[in-house]
This record gives sequence, C-alpha cells and structure tokens, in this order.
Amino acid sequence: MGAKATKKSWHGRLAGEADAVTAEFLASLDVDRALWRYDVAGSIAHAQMLREVGLLRKAEFDEIKKGLLAIGEDIEAGKLDMPTELEDIHMVIESALIERVGEPGRKLHTGRSRNDQVATDLRLWARDAADDLVEGIEDFQRALVGLAGGEQGTLVVPAYTHLQRAQPVLAGHAVLAYVEMVGRDAARLADARERIDVCPLGAGAVAGTSLPLDRARTAQLLGFARIARNSIDATGDRDFLAELCFGCAMLGVHLSRWAEDWIVYSTGEFGLIELDDAYCTSSSMMPQKKNADTLELIRGQAAGGIANLIGLLSLMKSLPLGYGRDLQDDKRFAMPAVAQMSQALAVAAGVAGTARFNAERIAGSLDAGYLDATALAEYLVEKGVAFRTAHGIVGRLVARAEELGKPLSALPLETLRDASDAVGEDVYKHLGPGNVVKRYAADGAGGARQLRKQLRYWQRKLAMD
Ligand code: ARG
Repeated sequence: MGAKATKKSWHGRLAGEADAVTAEFLASLDVDRALWRYDVAGSIAHAQMLREVGLLRKAEFDEIKKGLLAIGEDIEAGKLDMPTELEDIHMVIESALIERVGEPGRKLHTGRSRNDQVATDLRLWARDAADDLVEGIEDFQRALVGLAGGEQGTLVVPAYTHLQRAQPVLAGHAVLAYVEMVGRDAARLADARERIDVCPLGAGAVAGTSLPLDRARTAQLLGFARIARNSIDATGDRDFLAELCFGCAMLGVHLSRWAEDWIVYSTGEFGLIELDDAYCTSSSMMPQKKNADTLELIRGQAAGGIANLIGLLSLMKSLPLGYGRDLQDDKRFAMPAVAQMSQALAVAAGVAGTARFNAERIAGSLDAGYLDATALAEYLVEKGVAFRTAHGIVGRLVARAEELGKPLSALPLETLRDASDAVGEDVYKHLGPGNVVKRYAADGAGGARQLRKQLRYWQRKLAMD
C-alpha cells in the first residue's frame, strides 16, 4: 500500500497520519464542494459578528472578508486547489484563507466548530433547494394549467378508475388533478422550509461556547428566521433534510403517476395524448417507434427519490445525541434527491407545455365504455327512484346495450322504459358523455363551471392572470 502521509493543520492532538486510502475515506469534498457559496457566506457572517462583539478587529475582519470573497472567486473559476487530505470544503476554505491572509485567518474559527458550520451550510443549501423546487413545481403547474385552460381543456374525455373507463369529464379537469397533486408538494416544501430556516451557528461542537457570540446577529446576517434553541440538538439535527427528502420522494411519486398516465395515454391503444417529438425517442431497430422515454425516466426517478429518503432516515436512525461522523454522508442522499427532482421538473414542464390531446381519436371512441351509465342512474334518482334500485336498473340496461352493441343513448325509448317506467322522453338529454358533462352540479366535479373555478384559483395562485 502506498501510504502517502498527509498532515492536517488541526491535528495537534494526534500523532498518526492518515494514509491516502484513509484520507480518501474520510473526505467528503466530492459532495460538499457544492456547499462552497454557503460556506463563504456563513464564514463572512460569522466573522462580521465576531467583529461586532469585539472578538475581531476591523482590519482583521476586512482581511478575512476580502480573503473569503477572493477564495470564492477562485472556486467559481475552478482555480482553487482542493487537496483530499483537507477532508471537506470547510477545511479547504479555511486553510486557503489562512494561507492567504495569515494570522487573521486563524481567528475565523473562533467559537465555531465544523459541526455547527456544516449544519449551517446545509440549512442554507436546503433553503435554496426548497425554494428552487417550489419554483420548478410552479413552472410545471403553469404548463399544465395552460393546457387545461386552453381550447383543448374543454374536450370531453373519459376519467378512469382501475384504469377502466368510468365517467366523462372535461380534459382540463383531468389535467388539473395533477396540478393539485404537485401543489401539495409545493406546500409541503414551503412548510418544511420553516423548519429549515433555523440558524445553528454558534452552537459550536455541541455545548456552545464561553465566548460572547451574538447568535441572533449571525442568524440575521444570513437571513435565518430564528436561531436553534439547543446547541446539542442544533448540531445533530438533520430532520430538516429528511423533510426535504420526503418532499422530493413524494414529488417523485406524484410525477411518476402523471408520467405513467401520459405514457399510457400516448400509446396507440389509448391514443388520448400526443407528445411532442422533442420529448420522445425512437428505437435503434424499429424505425416506426416513438417512445415516451422522458416520461419513463421521470417515472423511474421516483425510485431514486424514495431510496434517498430511506437512506437518509437509515443514516439518522439510532444516532446518539450530538454530531456523529455518519452525518457527513447526509449530503449523499439529499443532494442527488434534489438534483434529480429539479431536472425532472424542468423536463416535465416541457412535456406538459407541448403535449396535445388527440381530439379526433377521443371523440371517435367516447361512446365506448358506457361513461354515461352513472348519469342515467342519477336521472332515475331525480325521477324518484332510490339510487340502489336505479343502479340495478342501469346495470341491466348496460348488459342489454352491450348485447345489442350500442351505447345507452342509441337504445330506443321502449327498451329504456321496459327497464323502468320512471324513464321519460327527456332521458336522451341526460345520455351521451357530452350531455353528462353539462349536468355536473356539485363543486369539484368534472364540468365547465367547476373547471372555470379551478382555473381561476390556479391562474391567480400561479400569477398567470
Ligand atoms: N465533513 C464533515 C461533515 O460534512 C465535517 C464535520 C466533521 N466534524 C467533526 N467533528 N469531525 O459532516
């Protein structure tokens, strides 16, 4: 084994030096380098607070701030050396600062531990991540609302239960169901954000510090809503990250349901939806193929979302109070979870914004499947028949119509009256999917009035009007 010795400046206590394999094992730079902006911001805020409480002189703070900003520029330009033996982005930045500004740099870590520093950076990252995800969800929602609110939203389509044709609804109503679904994800992430938005900085390693830090000031400088009350909890808490991951997992599950529907709806067998070519691929062998690969990947990515949540919760399970190094790997779950979902959302918005309902095909097959059977039962209810009785009558009528190979609306009046003498001539105004949709009365149903109401709600909420 090539035991390349490394030396860490903070290892005053320890004599042994890690070999290269161990140094690699200890390091988290590959993932936490993504936190550099937050680390620089957190350090500048910490230093400013140290300056304000008299633990740094103005000249020292100025040098630290200038140094940190320059380091940030170098990282952005890909010019900062990041040796693995420094373990993480936090040590890389602090070491670079000490190298550049000398003694003032050695004061930056006053009253601070990597434990509260990491927790702070992560919370800053998670706060942005939650905001970005909400924005991504809203873009996807806008695309869906655009489709639902356009001309195609007024098409009559089958709604399904058990993936069997069930009742007719307006297409816009079906599309807005997904808007509701992911709307809950946005609300969940916004709610999680409140618990993310808590500043652990100043909690130190575990017990806080004897130095007179002004924690509220640091929190204020970083735009946090409040400070963590308990230093032990503050350093070992990753609930906020688990909540973010749950938000991603749930969103992934929702996107997978939408993707599955549209994959199915775009098949030759269903033919309800036509996806834009830009979001499809062909086959390397079968020249006729147009596959919904983007939607299939979105459907599959729910797996990653769920796995990352389970991974993070497993990592947190049974951890003793305070920081444990296990927590270093929290980012390996949270970061891919967020990255995957933001990418999936961007593609989903594109798919939704360019898809078209296949109006002709839908109209041509709308009479199949007795979508108006429930409406016929409800017609009988309005004529005074008990619903259970009406249900039986219509069930028998559907069986009869099936024998004749006809839709209910094509049955002669005598046949309908044979089934129930409550049937009158007006029955035909209640039959056929188009008529059914016109009669939906209750709030939240699949008709035009309800669609307009939902559209108004979402257009306002998404600032589309
Ligand atoms: N890279 C570590 C992390 O992300 C830094 C914390 C190390 N703290 C410690 N006490 N060894 O969690």
